[in-house]
Amino acid sequence: MSINRPSTRRVLRAGVALAFGLVLAACGKKEPPPPAPAPAAPAAAPAPAKVYVVGTDAAYAPFESQNEKGEIVGFDIEVVQAIAKKAGFEVKFVNTPWEGIFNTLQQGDRDLVVSAVTITDERKQTMDFSAPYFDAQQLIAVRQDSKVAKFADLKKLKVGVQTGTTGDEAVSKLLGKTNPNIKRFESTPLALKELESGGVDAVVADNGVVIHYVANNPGGKFKTVTDKEFVPEQYGIALKKGNAELLAKVNEGLAGIKADGTYNQIYTKYFGSAPAAPAPAASK
Ligand code: ARG
Repeated sequence: MSINRPSTRRVLRAGVALAFGLVLAACGKKEPPPPAPAPAAPAAAPAPAKVYVVGTDAAYAPFESQNEKGEIVGFDIEVVQAIAKKAGFEVKFVNTPWEGIFNTLQQGDRDLVVSAVTITDERKQTMDFSAPYFDAQQLIAVRQDSKVAKFADLKKLKVGVQTGTTGDEAVSKLLGKTNPNIKRFESTPLALKELESGGVDAVVADNGVVIHYVANNPGGKFKTVTDKEFVPEQYGIALKKGNAELLAKVNEGLAGIKADGTYNQIYTKYFGSAPAAPAPAASK
């Protein structure tokens, strides 16, 4: 065994030298791997500004609709964007079906709802509203050959409305809530298409939307009928009840854009004239 020792040592030495050489060679080629990175230090930058989520039923031109690119556009959108800019907060719009739109506030999925929403005493019990930002009224749409001349003439007819709107309320009052002649649709354009195809005899909806639809669908051969019975309505931006901080910001921004002319600019862009001289609802 002793005879083997020196050779064993030599082999060992050679091995050690070889290993050392390999380490040196490796060192020459590459840095040894860096130690595992230390966990990131807490960010020193302040948290990014909160983006408020705004729900809107974007099938309600000219207030809110989707363009060819799928972007949500319209009068309401520009008003809220201007308010946000004025009051210094950020917004993101999310298309939200009308049915259940107010629940999204309760659930915290939306911070604001802008959707041509009429401020009503009943709604005020479950949500808060900004100061009013638009005057509206119900308007009747019928086919051009219709004999309808006033709201009461709808009593025996089939009437289309968007479910849960103030138009639905008005017609429910006249015809009786459970009257099968009331045809409820999930959107106002769907109700108006049904008018065109003859499925209903009239549609009752917000004047701005009816006028816009009739003007943009000359093939539909519609006309509009006003009635003094329809009470004046005002649109407000809806918030979860008690969200006083955001409500204050919204009202501050709204007052600001009314004072500096931005509101009038947006209004004129969409409705052709300044709100001080409201165009009477068209009637033929
Ligand atoms: N102003 C009516 C209401 O508040 C209709 C609003 C419908 N809005 C909409 N984007 N679909 O009941």
